[in-house]
Amino acid sequence: MASLLMINTLTITFYIMLSSSILPPSKATFSEEISEAISMKRMEKTTRLHFFFHDIHSGKSPSAIKIAGTPDSSMFGDTYMMDNTLTESQQGTSKEVGKAQGMYAFAAKNEPALLMVLNFEFTQGEFNGSSLSVLGRNPIMVDVREMPIVGGSGRFRYANGYALAHTVWFDPKSNDAIIEYNVYVKHY
Ligand SMILES: *[C@@H]1O[C@H](CO)[C@@H](O)[C@H](O)[C@H]1NC(C)=O
Repeated sequence: MASLLMINTLTITFYIMLSSSILPPSKATFSEEISEAISMKRMEKTTRLHFFFHDIHSGKSPSAIKIAGTPDSSMFGDTYMMDNTLTESQQGTSKEVGKAQGMYAFAAKNEPALLMVLNFEFTQGEFNGSSLSVLGRNPIMVDVREMPIVGGSGRFRYANGYALAHTVWFDPKSNDAIIEYNVYVKHY
């Protein structure tokens, strides 16, 4: 009886600790320490994600559109908004695993280097509904570009890590491109 009571008390304590990390505190508390609950109850893991990013400018329904830029021939300042499809393999017809939603802009005057600001939103498997946020520099002529993963949501709450991007196909006429991504992310 006493031990049952103890288990119940522990369960309730755990539940309170867990819900305090999910819900905002109900009292008017400006800040509170919850790091203990997280470090005790959750183990950090590393997940690798592999997918192909389709940056499509051509056709009736492009997934990336130019939203700002200068009329002169310099690309510096050109800014694009994308809702690019992420697929399991290189073929556009392969299984969709998510979207890359956000912006990229030519941020260097002397080379084609992009500022990337985007969220990967996943729609398959255990990471369905979870997202990762990328904020990084992408010099597109370099074979492998590394960009920081600065956060995430859902299963990727507290995420940090890096993404490696490699262009596998590019059409200079349309600027359509397929980019292979390998993402390494630490999360709980
Ligand atoms: C992903 O989650 C959404 C929303 O909960 C659901 O409608 C959809 O069926 C899920 N997809 C897969 C492949 O599990």
